Formats: sequence, structure tokens, C-alpha cells
Amino acid sequence: MNAHADVDVEWPLSRRGDVVPDVCTWLREHKPVARVRTFTGDPAWLVSTHELATRVLQDDAFSMSALAAPGGRLQYAPLFPASNRSSVKDMVGVGLRDTVMQTFSPHAVKEAIGAFRRKAGELLDDITAEGPPVDFRARFTQPYTASVMATVMGLSEDHGRLLMDGFDISIMTVPRTFEGAQVNLEKCLARTRARLLEPDAVDAPGLLGALARFRTEHGTTPELDDEIVLMLNNLFVAGGLSTAAFLLLSLLQLALHRDQAEWLRTHPESMDRAVEELLRYSLAIGDGLPRIAVRDTELGGQPISEGDLVLVLVEGANYDPAVFDDPNRLDLTRNPKEHVTFGAGRHYCAATCLARTHATVALSAVLERLPGLRLAIPPEEINWRSGWIKRTPERLPLLW
Ligand code: HEM
Repeated sequence: MNAHADVDVEWPLSRRGDVVPDVCTWLREHKPVARVRTFTGDPAWLVSTHELATRVLQDDAFSMSALAAPGGRLQYAPLFPASNRSSVKDMVGVGLRDTVMQTFSPHAVKEAIGAFRRKAGELLDDITAEGPPVDFRARFTQPYTASVMATVMGLSEDHGRLLMDGFDISIMTVPRTFEGAQVNLEKCLARTRARLLEPDAVDAPGLLGALARFRTEHGTTPELDDEIVLMLNNLFVAGGLSTAAFLLLSLLQLALHRDQAEWLRTHPESMDRAVEELLRYSLAIGDGLPRIAVRDTELGGQPISEGDLVLVLVEGANYDPAVFDDPNRLDLTRNPKEHVTFGAGRHYCAATCLARTHATVALSAVLERLPGLRLAIPPEEINWRSGWIKRTPERLPLLW
């Protein structure tokens, strides 16, 4: 399948987020554990069946935290110094896990849902006042997501927009780091730090208020403040990028499958199930979920050595015909429970209720207000962003 002797396929696969890459089927059938080279030129194993993907995500032989070890194999250049990264593990370390998890609990999301609906409504008021066509990335999915994330995190709309715009520039998948990424990070961290240290932050709603109270109650240290600021930023990025990309690709699929969109519009009670199928169908995660093997093992008969980088191809698992009938067909009535769009095992997404609600509210509002939603340009003219962490169109011009 590939001219170079030491890889089986070129990586990354197609950046298009509207159709699953053809090579996915070939990989599953011929090379379910295939050799690729990452953006940094490091060798990696690409895993493309549902069975092997879920095994990697659930097996302790494959570690997420080992990715941060110095000198290890890389998926792409680390954009920020290691000290600028934090994870759920770090939250546990500083005793913050429960505080953070409460922010994303179904109860907290339910409390915030009115604000999500209001924002979606306001944006659609502007969009309908202007009339078609409108770019739904600039005018809907980005500002809506910034607002949703700002709401749950207790930040102002302006602060949410700054973080959303900033990370839209800098979170790239590139062979070498670049100056703008660090400058952008510092700008975002400085803004969040300043807000955390304001005396009235303890009265703020959402995560900011909870963290501000935590630091006052537990005695502040500069290290704890660093951790809190990083965590707020990292959660904003993890949540904002994922939800915005998923919503945008879902709108695109509804615009491409107009009969199903119309069915969903007239069957709003089926929205939860439809969102589950849109999650399965989503090609947003473009670069695989990475793990490092922490001991010698095997995968589908392929020996894997300690230190090897393994990439789980999400669309490989989600379009596997061994698990999903006619997987290339979008079917909003199917109930695709086994999809791995939120991962699996110990690192399973920490905020699935927020993720699903973000999409459900937005899609319901769009379908209700804009029947007949369709692409304003030929699908093959969509400009798919390269070198970015998600598969995403630069613009999504829609008519209704
Ligand atoms: C549609 C939206 C979302 C998708 C598709 C998504 C997907 C994922 C996936 C695939 C993982 C596992 C990564 C891996 O195993 O390598 C993950 C983990 C995580 N997600 Fe989400 N996510 C979404 C929304 C969110 C939101 C809104 C937040 C919170 C603000 C969030 C916070 C996290 C965190 C903190 C983890 C790490 C969990 C851990 O390491 O234990 N995600 N997400």
C-alpha cells in the first residue's frame, strides 16, 4: 500500500471529515496493526479494528502518562514545555479531582442548560436576521462553544472567546514547535491567572468559583495556583476543541443527509440516539489516540516492544463492520453503544454529559429554526484544515 519500505500507510490519513478514509477498510483487513511514521518521523503502530482498539485503551500495558516521559516517541512536537501540561492524574495529585468532576456532573450541566439554549437562540437570531448563506463555524459553533465552556467554567464570555480564539490558532500537529504557540499559551494563562486572583473569584459560578474557594480554604501556594490555572486552561481546550469539532461535523452530516435531518426535526424525542450515531460517525479525531507500551507485549500477533508508540484509529473502530452493520451508512435510528469516540477504559472522557448536552441543545435549536439546512458550496470544495488536532472545515457555509 506504500512505496516506503518501513511504513504500511502514509500518516496522517485524509484530513477530510466528511467521508471515512478508504484506506481504513484495507488497514482493518490486511494490517490491523500497521507501521506508520508520525509528524516527528517517529515510528508508531496504527491499530484499526474495534477489538484491538478497545484492548489498547483498556490494557495497562499501554499508558497515556508514559507519553510525557522525556526522550520517548512522539505523535507530534510538544507545543508547550512539559511543565505546561497537566492531566487528570495531576488533579488527583493536588486533591482537585472531585471539585473538577462536579463541574461536569449531569446535575451541574442540567443547571446550565438554560444558558446554553439562550446562547444558541441568540446566535440563531443573528443568523436568521442576516439570511443565508452563513458560515456556521465563525457564526455558530465557535461562539456557541466558547459560551458553553465559559458558562460551566465560570468565566466571562469575553474570556471564553479569548481562549477559544487563542487555541484555534495554536493547537497544531506539527514536526517542530513554534514561537506563536508558547506566546499564545502565556497570554491565555496570564488572563486566567489574573481572573483567579481577583478577590471576587470566590463568588464566581462554575469551576472558577470552586477552584478559587479551594485555594483559599487549603492555603495558597504559587505551585497550587500554577496547577489551577493550567487545569482551567487545559480543560477549556480539551472540552472546547472536542465539542466544537464534533458539532461542526454533525451539522455538516445533517446538511449532507437532508432526509435524515428532516426526520430528526419531526422526531425531536430521538435526538439523544441521533447524537450517539453522530458521535460514532464523527471523524473529528484525526490523529489517533496515542499510548506508549510500558512492557513487551503483542497485539493481534504483532510483537510490541516496551517504549513503542501505539495509535488507536478511532474511525477504524467506529466503522468496523464486525461491530456495526453497514458502518458507512449514517443511520440516526441505530443505537451504536460500542463506539469509542469518548475513548474507553481508565481515560474515558471525563465530561460526556456536557459533551452530549452541548451538541443536543445546539442541534435541536438549529433543526427547529432552520428547516432545509444544506451546504452552500459543493462538498468537494470544503477547505479541510491541515496540521491541526481535529479534522475540521475552515468554513461551513450553509443555506436553509
Ligand atoms: C464531543 C466532545 C468530546 C469528545 C469527542 C471527547 C473525546 C475524548 C476522548 C476520546 C478522550 C480519551 C482520550 C484518550 O484515551 O487518549 C477524552 C478524555 C478526556 N476528556 Fe473528552 N471529549 C469531549 C468533550 C469533553 C469535554 C467537554 C471535556 C471537559 C471540559 C472533556 C474532558 C476530558 C478529559 C479531562 C479527559 C481525560 C480523562 C483522563 O485522562 O482520565 N472532554 N475525551
